[in-house]
Amino acid sequence: MQEFKNIKSSFPIFSNNPELVFLDNASTSQKPQMVIDAINEYYTKYNSNVGRGVYKLAEITDNLYQSGREKIASFINANSANEIVFVKNGTEAANLVSYSMSGKIASGDKIVVTELEHHSNYLPWLELAKRKQAQFEVIPFKNNQLSEIDQIINEKTKIVAVTQMSNVLGIQPQLQEIMARARDVGAVVILDAVQGIAQKGLDVKAMDVDFAFVSVHKMFGPMGIGFLYGKSELLENMPAFMTGGGMIKELNELNTEWLEVPNKFEAGTPNPAGVYATIKAIDFIEEIGTENIYKHNVSLANALREKLAKISQIRLLGKADTSIISFTIDRIHPHDIASIFANNEISIRAGHHCSKPLMNALDLNATARISFQIYNNEKELEKVLESINEVIKWTSLLK
Ligand code: ALA
Repeated sequence: MQEFKNIKSSFPIFSNNPELVFLDNASTSQKPQMVIDAINEYYTKYNSNVGRGVYKLAEITDNLYQSGREKIASFINANSANEIVFVKNGTEAANLVSYSMSGKIASGDKIVVTELEHHSNYLPWLELAKRKQAQFEVIPFKNNQLSEIDQIINEKTKIVAVTQMSNVLGIQPQLQEIMARARDVGAVVILDAVQGIAQKGLDVKAMDVDFAFVSVHKMFGPMGIGFLYGKSELLENMPAFMTGGGMIKELNELNTEWLEVPNKFEAGTPNPAGVYATIKAIDFIEEIGTENIYKHNVSLANALREKLAKISQIRLLGKADTSIISFTIDRIHPHDIASIFANNEISIRAGHHCSKPLMNALDLNATARISFQIYNNEKELEKVLESINEVIKWTSLLK
């Protein structure tokens, strides 16, 4: 690994787009060369299917696939590699759990989510509640924190879905408080770690969550691969979500017996190249350290926030000491802000960020969002401020 200050050269996207200022990292992170190389290496040297062959390449692929599980289990401090299920992304993981847990939810039970959730950790639970005529309640987000946790999570609550880090504000909700209350009432907790893992790490044992899920593309890995962590006893007692090849022990006309966990949940040909690239993405993160990544991102966000706070037309959302800045500017739609930035080769996101419940809580339809990653630097902040000034100048011309 090169010096921290040269980190940008590890990401070929920047040598191919020398003017690019990429500040849409909450949407997806860029990929270091070692991750890109892993995909190329897999397909040029080892390509074969997983768990289906006895020849040499198949053996290599099987070993890679299993070592991916082990690597992830150790990275997130799981008890066993069998607690890791490969999926295509966090959305699939949340849907898997919500469908497989259907049998445990009865009419009158309660499912709780938070107002900070991305749609991927909101809609699967809302749909489950509808299917089972269960109650559905949302923990409100007020004054930059979740409130009424103890009242909303009650004896009827069977599931609590919560994010580790908001993809809109970068705020980390009070997980310990939620966990304590969920444990009091015997509810299962599912953590959306998609936004948080690359910056805050994930220690499923210390957090004691029942399930957690991750999309690898937000942690320097490729798209199309993610993983679900589940406590063994829970995974073992859940039925399969999808059925098909690679997950069956016995099939005798009408009678089926699934393979053991985690294969039971991995129907169809999986993504070994993605798994191999995930190993490299974790290597990359481990070389830098999640605490260093977070510190870097927060220090850039704080420096920019301080400057933006001085501009009266800007409404800053969320709070300092996070790695994401969501904001609005008087008299201009966030999409137009993003377009002016785009003209200056600065990539930011505008919109509801797949977080409509949070937009409603903030009484907004959309925000502009700047989100940092390890390859961003202070020089880029100057470019952001130039674009902000351009936006402000433009709004002053409006009648
Ligand atoms: N969830 C991603 C975002 O926040 C796509 O932009």
